[in-house]
Amino acid sequence: MIADRVKQIGMSPTLRVAALAGELKRQGHDVLDLSAGQPDFPTPESVKQAGVQAIEDNQTRYTANSGMQELREAITQRIRRDHDLHYEASQILVSPGAKASLYFACMTLIDPGDEVIVPSPYWVTYPEQVRLAGGKPVFVPCRGEDGFRLDPDRLQAAITGKTRVLILNDPSNPTGASYSEEQLRPLAELCERHDLWIVADEIYSRLLYDGRRFVSVATLGEAIRERTVMINGMSKAWSMTGWRVGWTAAAQAVIDGMAKLQSHSTSNVTTISQFASVEALNNCDAEIARRVDAFQQRRNCIVERLRGIDGVRCTSPEGAFYVLPDCSERLVGLKGVRDGIELSEFLLERAGVAVVPGEAFGAADHLRLSYAVSVDRIDEGLDRIERALDQG
Ligand SMILES: Cc1ncc(COP(=O)(O)O)c(C=O)c1O
Repeated sequence: MIADRVKQIGMSPTLRVAALAGELKRQGHDVLDLSAGQPDFPTPESVKQAGVQAIEDNQTRYTANSGMQELREAITQRIRRDHDLHYEASQILVSPGAKASLYFACMTLIDPGDEVIVPSPYWVTYPEQVRLAGGKPVFVPCRGEDGFRLDPDRLQAAITGKTRVLILNDPSNPTGASYSEEQLRPLAELCERHDLWIVADEIYSRLLYDGRRFVSVATLGEAIRERTVMINGMSKAWSMTGWRVGWTAAAQAVIDGMAKLQSHSTSNVTTISQFASVEALNNCDAEIARRVDAFQQRRNCIVERLRGIDGVRCTSPEGAFYVLPDCSERLVGLKGVRDGIELSEFLLERAGVAVVPGEAFGAADHLRLSYAVSVDRIDEGLDRIERALDQG
């Protein structure tokens, strides 16, 4: 028999599109992929070299469970440069990807029956990790008209005596929404008043556009920082998804709890990846700035193209590399297409373009398109989508 634990969680609906896309590719169809959750850029050259050097130097053994001292110090320095916050190296836990960091955070903060507030649209993994920890995800809708940001009144209304945690993803996957200090403050005050933890998933924090400055919720005062579990990682800004490095900065008791879990499950992150990460954190700012410029151009292009389609509404994301157009009005005229899931299947079959249905993120009748591809690919993808919809 299979344990109830895994029976209660679902497989991501994104896999349905991925499986269909894979099948079409195998049959020789030209599938243009706008579903990717990773940058098309390679890992920066000097970072790759640092990994190669680590192998040459036989740096291939276990490290400390929580991560090499040198890496944890590089992370504390990064946090100081980015947020002007001071953490000790002992308050950092390096884990195999931010997904693992989030999982250990959930397992450390949530007891069975606890409620966890998940602003919706949400990244697919949050509700499942909450359920795995025995908690109950409580979804709070964030509207396109509000820039997909969590409204303090709605947050207040969702808090009960059982609420323990707010998961705050800034900038957000899938909406790209980001928060200013003024927008964060009322949310943080509510968390303080109701004694909630804030799990701040900041994995896209370096990918912000139009000159926006990222504000971590942890910077809003010492009391807020104490209750914030700050999570980030190498995957997105440094194009290092395959190296599997994420990290957490938090109060010592939280880090100690998470480190215990890690010590009995994954242990340390791959040693080679840790050496590469030190180089990435210390020496790649100029390269990241160039990539942010490229992402901004791509965002401008995809938003303009989507807004040009009749019946499609699209907010302009402030960060990350996804757009979440509302296609509810466009669905009306399409035969046999009733929701975002069927629309994504229609686009794959008729336009050869892979996108993710918004339903996967709690956003019915929306689509999530990734702009982590070149402007040419975006243009071609949108040409194909327009043609298929016109013929639909
Ligand atoms: C919002 C968000 N958080 C966390 C992650 C996990 O990233 P990783 O495990 O590669 O560090 C992702 C990856 O897609 C994400 O989109």
